[in-house]
Amino acid sequence: VVTGSPGRSRSSEQVVDLAAYRVRVAPGALDTLAEVALATASAFRYAIVTDSNVGPLYADRARALLGDRTRVFTVPAGETHKTRRSWAELTDAMLAQGFGRDTTVVALGGGVVGDLAGFVAATYMRGVPYVQVPTTLLAMVDASVGGKTGVDTPAGKNLVGAFHQPAAVVADPELLVTLPRPQLRAGFAEALKHGVIWDAEYFSVVVDAAPALIEAPTDADQLTRIVGRSVSIKAGIVMRDERELGVRKVLNFGHTLGHAIELGSEYRLLHGEAVAIGMVLESTVAEHVGAAEPGISDQIRAGVRSLGLPFARPRDQDPVRIVAATRIDKKARRDAVAYALPHHMGAMAGADAGWSITVPDDVVLRVLS
Ligand SMILES: NC(=O)c1ccc[n+]([C@@H]2O[C@H](COP(=O)([O-])OP(=O)(O)OC[C@H]3O[C@@H](n4cnc5c(N)ncnc54)[C@H](O)[C@@H]3O)[C@@H](O)[C@H]2O)c1
Ligand SMILES: [Zn+2]
Repeated sequence: VVTGSPGRSRSSEQVVDLAAYRVRVAPGALDTLAEVALATASAFRYAIVTDSNVGPLYADRARALLGDRTRVFTVPAGETHKTRRSWAELTDAMLAQGFGRDTTVVALGGGVVGDLAGFVAATYMRGVPYVQVPTTLLAMVDASVGGKTGVDTPAGKNLVGAFHQPAAVVADPELLVTLPRPQLRAGFAEALKHGVIWDAEYFSVVVDAAPALIEAPTDADQLTRIVGRSVSIKAGIVMRDERELGVRKVLNFGHTLGHAIELGSEYRLLHGEAVAIGMVLESTVAEHVGAAEPGISDQIRAGVRSLGLPFARPRDQDPVRIVAATRIDKKARRDAVAYALPHHMGAMAGADAGWSITVPDDVVLRVLS
């Protein structure tokens, strides 16, 4: 990971090298897109995939950097468009425009665009390179790194997809000034998650810094440090276990119940909001099954609350339905589901059990009720 400002104050640039690719985090990093693409995923043509909010803000700038043979493909914004239908429309449009194997896809947007464009890249002509240009905090700290791509189906989130690592990631915190405040806030949920699973001090850093940054995301150097630290944590985990056979499972903390609640809200809750609730509930589950030291759920709840994120099961969501929805999401037995659970702040439980702890449905039901 490189974070900082190329050609500006060197102090705030950070670079993380993830064996296969490079993550650059820096104020103004967008200006280096062509340089990075040339160095890591040089192509005859570039296909910028973006959404209907981000495109009007930043696609012209990206296209101007990448040159004449670049085309912009725009999908409607929102999680409800992270679908096989969008994937089909994008690939059809690229085929109609004559894009060949010598294409690099550029994902310009939040996690929805990143997952969708990444899946397009994973499958187009059996796989072409792509560069992630995350434009939400959530995508900068989490979704753009690690190579998970895919789309949602009516049965649940991310159920059709592929592992496909980006050639590079270019994260420019200056792009966050246009991000709506609820989206910014939701992004900090994944940063809190990185603190819980790996780095207690970082959890405190985020709790202290986030409220002011949510108010005004103008301190690009501070944002650069936060994004850089999250990316380092995530990249370090992914490098050890790209295919999620073991330790990568810890990144799913908060997501088993979080995904179920996100789906149950029919995507009215943002991903990060659902994950915030999921972290509070799953850490309570961890205390109930004796995996965690008592007090961790209080710590997480306090952190989540201080950022203004939701921390309890939505009243209109029935616990029985939530538990039913967890069964498709993760490895499930007849009456139990595997969870990634914390042990104490900064460390996860279950190292000797493949980082996954099987919890009976009735325990989860009790916590949800
Ligand atoms: N692949 C992974 O490892 C991974 C990890 C975490 C989350 N995800 C996925 O990421 C998705 C959520 O991503 P998200 O929270 O970024 O949502 P998103 O992509 O829907 O973006 C949120 C909203 O902000 C708008 N937007 C984006 N950047 C903007 C900017 N700079 N200025 C103004 N508006 C902007 C978008 O148009 C959208 O309306 C979920 O689908 C989740 O499953 C994937
Ligand atoms: Zn997530």
